[in-house]
Amino acid sequence: MIDLHTHILPACDDGSPDLATSIAMARMAVADGIRVMACTPHIMPGLYHNDGEGISRRTDALQAALDEAGVDLRLVTGADIHIVPDLAQKLTTGFAPTLAGTRYFLLEPPHHVLPPRFAEFVQKLISAGYTPILTHPERLTWMQAHYGILERVNAMGALLQITAGSVTGNFGASAQKLAERMLGEGRVDLFASDAHNLKGRPPVLSRAFAAVEASLGLAEANRMFVETPGRILANERVEPVGQTQSGRGSMQKRPSGLRRLLGNSMRHFLGDRRHEG
Ligand SMILES: [Fe+2]
Repeated sequence: MIDLHTHILPACDDGSPDLATSIAMARMAVADGIRVMACTPHIMPGLYHNDGEGISRRTDALQAALDEAGVDLRLVTGADIHIVPDLAQKLTTGFAPTLAGTRYFLLEPPHHVLPPRFAEFVQKLISAGYTPILTHPERLTWMQAHYGILERVNAMGALLQITAGSVTGNFGASAQKLAERMLGEGRVDLFASDAHNLKGRPPVLSRAFAAVEASLGLAEANRMFVETPGRILANERVEPVGQTQSGRGSMQKRPSGLRRLLGNSMRHFLGDRRHEG
């Protein structure tokens, strides 16, 4: 599997605190079946002062440490980019790095407030030649009340990334419910771990993979955990699945399916499954 959203770089945001933790997180990811991982620390003015050059340097350093430790994980650069007015310019200059230098970048909206003119902001970035990947919309507290905005930016071309832990209930009932709704509507483009540490928010995708596989089938799980992330890293053109196939996976016909199967997945799938990617 490919994990395009993690805070594995040591000591540059609220993720891994030190190199030893980062190496342990990488080992955990490999054991979980993850082969490629994007290092995507926060870029947030006033709080996390990361930039493209520093992230690239830190990614190279961590890759060298993993190679030396014999951990078979390939790292690529990226960032978890918070909203700033001149974001298009920051992407163009490389101050805010896209994923592995592609047109795709992680866009993290504020958690508790819908920014004014958000859809127009997204359109401006798309018009500038970039494709925002909206990170964990299911966890944004304003999403329930403003779901139309999500449909709008998705229709414009923004991709949607769900956090793996959301479908297994790690972020509470409302995040789980919204994740189920998006899966049911066939509009989830990819999953990622958004790993921050070893416990609580670990680099683990296999549980969510198993849950999605059990509910929607192996092809859909592979699309969201392997194929779409791979196409993003190859900078291939990826249209939002919500644009091209309404109701893919037919979750609307089985609204309670995922929740029921998630319970089963925790018993049947833990620990003994590996996924290439
Ligand atoms: Fe994040």
